[in-house]
Order: sequence, then structure tokens, then C-alpha cells
Amino acid sequence: MGKTTTAINLSAALAQKGMKVLLADIDPQANSTISFIDNGNLEQSLSIYDLMTDMKLSLSDVLKKTSVQNLDLIPSRIHMAKLERELIGELDAPFRLKDRLDPICKMYDVVVIDTPPTLGLITVNALVAATHLIIPIQSSYFALEGTDDLLETINRIKARPNPELEVLGVVVTLHDRRTTLSRDIYDQICQVFGDKVFSTTISKSVRLEESPAYKESIFTFAPASTGAVEYANLCEEVIRRAC
Ligand SMILES: Nc1ncnc2c1ncn2[C@@H]1O[C@H](COP(=O)(O)OP(=O)(O)O)[C@@H](O)[C@H]1O
Ligand SMILES: [Mg+2]
Repeated sequence: MGKTTTAINLSAALAQKGMKVLLADIDPQANSTISFIDNGNLEQSLSIYDLMTDMKLSLSDVLKKTSVQNLDLIPSRIHMAKLERELIGELDAPFRLKDRLDPICKMYDVVVIDTPPTLGLITVNALVAATHLIIPIQSSYFALEGTDDLLETINRIKARPNPELEVLGVVVTLHDRRTTLSRDIYDQICQVFGDKVFSTTISKSVRLEESPAYKESIFTFAPASTGAVEYANLCEEVIRRAC
């Protein structure tokens, strides 16, 4: 948990620093998309599903500008849920996103991909297309549940389709540094991921929860909030590690 909140606010933080950023939403739940764009404006729009299934389309057919300067978005829609079924038996199934993003990449400094929660073919497409992976882990008793499956998938992707893939870091979100449990969980996460864990943690914050409803990133919605400060710090760490 925390993937979409991290994707939208990290994208906005990078864009604020003057980088040209593309946020690709590939989750059928489309939470990143509706964090920036009114549902009413999406009804007639083409989406990442169309881009990945109709080779006649180009980026400009699906691209949306956001209210954040330098931040463009490829929207998702619920029909993205059909994609996995439709790609069964297609030889290029894991490469669809990469093939579509590669020619676009040179137009942007950074492409951020927001993934679904499952490790199915859609997420595999993201792992094949990506150079770096950021793993948000919620600070909770169940924090490390599912980690083995994720690490196994990453290793399999690195073995064949994408040897370049690098885990850039793990970010602990919904952290409450006042509680002993949270501190214990943070230590446990560090034991598993070592120095991959970002030193910035993201605290539990009502402002972070609210900002998508107002179609804003945390930086315009509540610029002085802890969430804004923490995501700005995370952005600096990400730039230091990736560049
Ligand atoms: N740091 C945070 N503080 C408070 N609420 C958060 C925080 N991060 C995420 N949330 C909320 O938790 C829910 C799930 O987070 P989200 O980022 O959408 O996770 P995911 O994309 O991994 O499913 C959302 O309602 C979101 O607003
Ligand atoms: Mg999400």
C-alpha cells in the first residue's frame, strides 16, 4: 500500500524540479489517473489499454496534460482489467508496455509507472519496461507479507527479459514513528532490504489522503504538511540514487 500516493507525489516532486515527467497509470483501478483528472473528462478518452492493444495509436492519442507543470499522464481505465486475458498466447505479451514506452522515453526525463497490486502480466509489463523499481511498504504488522513473491518475480525478470532492472529503493509509508511497533517494523524491513531502504519515511497523514479528491498533488494542496516535506525529501534521495 502506498504505491499510488507515492507515484503521484513523486511525479509531482520531480516535475516541480523542472524535469519533464510522464506518469503512466497501468492499474485498472486508475487511482493515479483520477487523482489528476476528472472522471467526466475520461469517459471518451483513450487509455493505456488502447495504447497497449492498438498499434495504430500513438502517444499523442492518449496523452493527458495535468494541472502540474511538466507532468503528463497516460490514463488508465477499468477496461485495463481485460488486458491480461487478451494478451494470453501473444508472444510479445510481457513486452507490450516497453515497446510502447521506449520510443516515447526520449521526450521525458523520467517516466513513472503506477502498477496494480498483483504480480500478474500487467505488473510484469512494468518490470520489463522499467530501469528502476521503487517498492513502497506499509508500516504494519503484515508489512513483509508478499515480499518473497515480489523478490522472486524481480529475480526472474532480471534473469531474462530485463537484466537492467535495479531495485532503487524501499520506502516505508504510513509510518508512525511514535509507536514501538512501527519502529520494530522499520527495523525488520531494514533487515530484509538493508541499505535499499530510503532514509526518508512517509508518515501517516490525512492531507496525503485528501489531496487526490481535490485533483492536486500534496505540494499545492498542503505545501507545509509533513507529507509534502517527506515526499520532497524522498524525491531528493531518488535523484541521488538514480543519477
Ligand atoms: N502516508 C499516508 N497517510 C495516510 N493515508 C495514506 C498514506 N499513503 C496512502 N494513504 C491512503 O491509503 C490508501 C491506499 O494508498 P494508495 O497509495 O492508493 O496505495 P496502493 O496504490 O498501493 O493501493 C489511499 O486511500 C491513500 O490515500
Ligand atoms: Mg494504487
